[in-house]
Formats: sequence, C-alpha cells, structure tokens
Amino acid sequence: MNVYIETYGCQMNVSDSGIVGKILTDNGFTLINRIEEANVILINTCSIRDNAEKKVKNRITELNALKRKNKIVIGILGCMAERLKEDLIENYGVDIVCGVDSYRKITDLIMDVNNPNYKKVVNDYFSSSQIHSIETYDDITPIQMDSNGVTAFVSIMRGCENFCSYCVVPYTRGKERSRNRNNIIKECEYLFENGYREITLLGQNVNSYNYNDTDFADLISKVAAINPLLRVRFATSHPKDISDKLILTIASYKNICKAIHLPVQSGSNAVLKRMNRKYTREQYMEKINKIKTSIPNCGLSTDIIVGFCGETQTDFEDTLCIMREVKYDYAFMFAYSERSDTFASKKYIDDISPLEKNERLTKVINLQRELSLTSNKNDIGKEFEVLIEGVSKRSPDKLFGRNTQNKVIIFDNKGLNKGEYVKIKVTDCTSATLIGEVTV
Ligand code: 5AD
Ligand code: SF4
Repeated sequence: MNVYIETYGCQMNVSDSGIVGKILTDNGFTLINRIEEANVILINTCSIRDNAEKKVKNRITELNALKRKNKIVIGILGCMAERLKEDLIENYGVDIVCGVDSYRKITDLIMDVNNPNYKKVVNDYFSSSQIHSIETYDDITPIQMDSNGVTAFVSIMRGCENFCSYCVVPYTRGKERSRNRNNIIKECEYLFENGYREITLLGQNVNSYNYNDTDFADLISKVAAINPLLRVRFATSHPKDISDKLILTIASYKNICKAIHLPVQSGSNAVLKRMNRKYTREQYMEKINKIKTSIPNCGLSTDIIVGFCGETQTDFEDTLCIMREVKYDYAFMFAYSERSDTFASKKYIDDISPLEKNERLTKVINLQRELSLTSNKNDIGKEFEVLIEGVSKRSPDKLFGRNTQNKVIIFDNKGLNKGEYVKIKVTDCTSATLIGEVTV
C-alpha cells in the first residue's frame, strides 16, 4: 500500500512524520512523494493557532473531493487528532484519527479501516501518565522526511509542562518525557555515518531534558563529541531554564552552533505575568546579556505574540523596545489566537480586535525586518564557515548553506558539494539572506 504523509506545523511534527514513516515501512507499506498514487493519505496536523487548524480543515475538504474519485483512506495525526478526536470522523469525514502517542497503532488502524467493529480513533496518552516516564518512541530511528541529506532533526524529549496560559501544547502533547541518552547518541552517530553534517536536537523544551541524571548540557556535549565535523543545534528553549552550564557548554564546543532561539513572547512584565511565562523582562534580559558576553557573536532569534488579552499600547511598545534592545537576528511573530481549554481562554478576555492585532503584527514584522537588515549589513566583509546544504531554490546556479549563527548565505556554485564546509566572505545582503563568495 502506498502512503503519502503531509506535514503541517513545527519541526517536531516533521520528526514525528518520520517516526510514522519508519513504523509504516517496517510493516511493508511504501512511502511515496506523489499524492496521486496514494492509497492512504496521512495529515500530520498543528493546533497552535486557529489558522493552522483552518488550513488543515480546508485541506481535508479538498482531499474528500479526491476521495470521491479514488478509493483512498484519509487519516489525521498530530495535535488536531488529540484536540478534535471523533469530531474529525463525524464532521469532516476522515477515516482514521491517531493521536501523538498512538503512532505504533497506525498500521492496525489502516488495515482495519473497513472493519466496522474496530475503532477509528485512538488517542492513548499512555506515555504521559508518568513524569519523565520512558519516551513512547524511544527505540525508533525515524526516517528523515524531506531531507537534504545534510541536516537532520533528532527528537530528544516530548511534551511540555510550562502551561503558558495561551498555549495548547501541554494539552495536545502531554507531560515531559526524555528519550534514552544512548538511543539518541546512537541515532546521531548513525546520521553522521550516513553523511549528515548537522543535527538539530528537538523538543518542546529541550532544556528540560533529563535522563538518569544526564541533563541537556551533558547530552549536547556528548553529541558534539561524536565528530568535530558534525554541527549541533537545538530548539526550543524556555528562557527560565537556559542554564549557565548550557551557555558555557555552547561556548566551549566549536561545533555547537552559536545560535540560540529564546522565545520572549512579550516585552511587558504585566503581559508576561498573564501569559504565565515565569520570568520578567529584566530576568530575560539578564539571560540575553549573559549569552552575549559568554558567546561572542551568538545568533539570537525569538518568538513574539502580539495582541494577547489586555495588551495595552504601552505593553505593545515594551515589546518593540525589547526587540530593539536585544537586536534579534530573526523572529517568528504571531497575532494571539485564543485556544479553547487553555487558562487564558477561561480566565481572560480576548479583547484586542483582529484589526488592532494585525496592525501590531505589521509593526513588529517591519521592525524585525529593519533589525535583520542591520544585523546582516554588519556581516558584510566578514568571513564565515558555511555548511553547504544544496542548490539555491531561487537561483539554480548558486549554492546555499548556513553559518553557525543560522544565517542563510548564498554563493556561486564552483563545483562544490552539499555536506562540505566552505569559507565564505559576505559581500552583500538582503534582510533575509547573506550573499557571499568562496574564499578557499
Ligand atoms: N496564539 C498565537 N501564538 C501562539 N504561540 C503559541 N500559542 C499561541 C497562540 N495561542 C506561539 C508562541 C510559541 C510559538 C511556537 O507559537 O510564540 O513560542
Ligand atoms: Fe507552549 Fe509555553 Fe510549552 Fe512553549 S513553553 S510549548 S509556549 S506552554
């Protein structure tokens, strides 16, 4: 049977699709890239904002039209499977719903889809029943989906217990569970032996990693020690748990990339408190300053939400102000989207109008564009070591890769290959990309 997997949302979902892919191929299914040839279409979904769910619902409607022509099975995986459960079968006409902790049952679900006596929905929350219990997919080495053969994702922990008041993740992904350290190292070694040169360690909260007294700083040093040619990155960190030990570890390994994604969400203490972020603006800035002094030229990126419940004009300006103060290289920016069942949806009023949210969003996007451009202009004339990831999509005669700070650099293709490291001198830039030339 041919299975096509379509993935929405975060990198964790991409990694999870790889787990599903591995389970399916081990059981005799074939993964395919052309949806037209599929017998089964699985959609791995995201619930983080309403527009993410809307996108998938529209996609299901499109696929249902395809289903009327061909005999196909449609299955929903991921966060929407956890949140909407039976509703997806009853009101959206899908055939299978499989929650994030139930992927080991995916083959049975597909095989039994026409049997009226079998369940169509499985949402076993089995591995989240204990704190730091064994990770559900600990022993599975996922397929690297849509891979360029150079950069890979390795999931190291799942779940989140921070309960930021706006966020649905603790409800869809359950409690924090860390993977066995040895399985992670084995997977990273295997990837390196198979030509991968960069690994991003993934988790909703990588800094909460804890397995038999191995913490995240210990784990990342072990991965970095596999080979100096293997770069290591990680995502995502909660500012409250980025430790001095981790900062020192990043500084002391050349192959741990000098780039930290540290979601701030808001620059206003009042908003941070309502968001239940568990830090103040001052505490956040203390972490940033520590990073800046301990890791010179560290790339810094963030997530920002505008228009959260009760966000005044002054609160919003505090966000613009902290962006200017940190001078982020990059930011993911969002308008607040109320999610049912979260603390914020029960306790606070979603009182900023969609129009105002959009205006604020445009302002932060424009400011970030300026900050990114300034940061990129500062790099003109500098030389960076770049790991080549492949041919540039926009200009096929050029290659692209990233420097340790996670900035994309485009340069002339001089017969080099992906997976190679090359020294590039930056000659020009846009707000999104550096442009350079090979120096050695
Ligand atoms: N509305 C808008 N953005 C959200 N995020 C999480 N929940 C919401 C929400 N309800 C953003 C946060 C988080 C990122 C992954 O998504 O910025 O860091
Ligand atoms: Fe959501 Fe906060 Fe957990 Fe991130 S840390 S997944 S924003 S609850």
